[in-house]
Amino acid sequence: MSTAISPTAYNYKVVRQFAIMTVVWGILGMGLGVFIASQLVWPELNFGLPWTSFGRLRPLHTNLVIFAFGGCALFATSYYVVQRTCQVRLISDSLAAFHFWGWQAVIVGAGITLPLGYTTTKEYAELEWPLAILLAVVWVVYALVFFGTIVKRKTKHIYVGNWFYGAFIIVTAMLHIVNHISLPVSFFKSYSAYAGATDAMIQWWYGHNAVGFFLTTGFLGMMYYFVPKQAERPIYSYRLSIVHFWALITLYIWAGPHHLHYTALPDWAQSLGMAMSIILLAPSWGGMINGMMTLSGAWHKLRTDPILRFLVVSLAFYGMSTFEGPMMAIKTVNSLSHYTDWTIGHVHAGALGWVAMISIGSLYHMIPKIFGRPQMHSVGLINAHFWLATIGTVLYIASMWVNGITQGLMWRAINDDGTLTYSFVEALQASHPGYIVRAIGGAFFASGMLFMAYNVFRTVRASNPAEAEAAAQIAVAGAH
Ligand code: HEM
Ligand code: HEM
Repeated sequence: MSTAISPTAYNYKVVRQFAIMTVVWGILGMGLGVFIASQLVWPELNFGLPWTSFGRLRPLHTNLVIFAFGGCALFATSYYVVQRTCQVRLISDSLAAFHFWGWQAVIVGAGITLPLGYTTTKEYAELEWPLAILLAVVWVVYALVFFGTIVKRKTKHIYVGNWFYGAFIIVTAMLHIVNHISLPVSFFKSYSAYAGATDAMIQWWYGHNAVGFFLTTGFLGMMYYFVPKQAERPIYSYRLSIVHFWALITLYIWAGPHHLHYTALPDWAQSLGMAMSIILLAPSWGGMINGMMTLSGAWHKLRTDPILRFLVVSLAFYGMSTFEGPMMAIKTVNSLSHYTDWTIGHVHAGALGWVAMISIGSLYHMIPKIFGRPQMHSVGLINAHFWLATIGTVLYIASMWVNGITQGLMWRAINDDGTLTYSFVEALQASHPGYIVRAIGGAFFASGMLFMAYNVFRTVRASNPAEAEAAAQIAVAGAH
């Protein structure tokens, strides 16, 4: 076995870097999630300081879990998948390295500016213009490396997983650039180029498609590669995957107005968003079923393989949250759920159950391969992680359902004389037990990530650079 670094081997260095940082940012982002969840139980944890207040740490949590944890997972896996399915090395090592370091710089920038209170105030697009421009540049470099590698491919067709990653890259660029068009008035302050209801519409066109293309389409790319690989079965239906792809990307882009029901947005736009959201159930479930059915004939593996369990349970949560979402998009249901913890529960059914679990499962599959090890250090620890993550997610979403419906019903309860039956504080008091359960569920989930960090550390420590580099050469010479 040759251990010399060959230019024909895959570039696993950038995959390893992004994979490790996924775990690091996952721990920090989810740890912060547990902290802000605890602030909602014990407000004293705000410490009376502006930098540690819930209002500033909440956007830091969302940026860390979505862009740092989720982003690094998507980059690591997309670079791994595109090389193996195209059977070529990435087109440029230096551009890939720029992508890695540039992305970490954006995240560190978020970690500094958000607690200091610098924000555009647009949810999931809070970073002020200098960081937003850096992010756009890094993203274009990512697109160049990814699509350049596809152009250089040795295979005839483009594997469907790459279609999903590709759509995620193109649409995220479009959303980010359009939503960030603004007028800077100083180094740390800018004003949106749009005003009033138009600004709101563009923000939620962005926000919903950040969910659709960042938190869904990219992770479906992951699903289409890692589920068949781990199950050792071909994807259930290649034809369904193509229909799934085109239906999903055609429909998602219209659903944004469901975030703006009963607002100044024209009524027709709200109804359009509602109708498109309901139709979106079909491609979402098409994808979920395609992933699940891939296990036909391999279900028995679930008994012994906790990695496969992560992947399958993530699909179950994907199916659940994409059923719940269309229901919440119906205006009458939304009149109850909006502003309540139901939305927060829905978010985390998708974020913990789907996004985090598919990423964790994919990383457990990929990490031994990129470090040249036969398997992860401990299968028992993966199993323990699986149960912590599953129980944590269930505690989180069940408590938020109870809270959400309680809040919605208490807020709308009216006495015979037309006055409100409950004050806001009474609804808050009723929510307190749910906040405790959510914090416990979050702590379960975050501690599972610590198990993962230890397991990854032991796996990496058992590897040596020559062995890891050899893995990249064996991979390029052999099966993909
Ligand atoms: C240990 C795990 C986690 C805990 C304890 C946690 C906790 C929280 C809390 C307390 C909030 C604020 C809720 C509120 O304002 O009432 C929040 C918001 C949010 N979190 Fe998490 N979180 C966790 C993991 C994640 C992950 C992995 C993701 C994404 C991949 C995520 C995405 C979000 C989003 C998008 C919001 C904003 C929701 C909205 O505005 O409707 N979280 N989280
Ligand atoms: C067919 C699929 C889906 C539909 C139709 C849908 C629909 C909705 C609706 C109606 C809301 C509430 C809007 C409001 O009242 O403010 C919402 C919120 C949200 N959903 Fe979904 N959802 C879907 C899937 C998902 C998935 C898979 C995820 C995560 C991976 C997700 C993440 C979110 C987030 C982060 C929010 C909160 C946005 C905010 O207010 O900050 N959704 N979704």
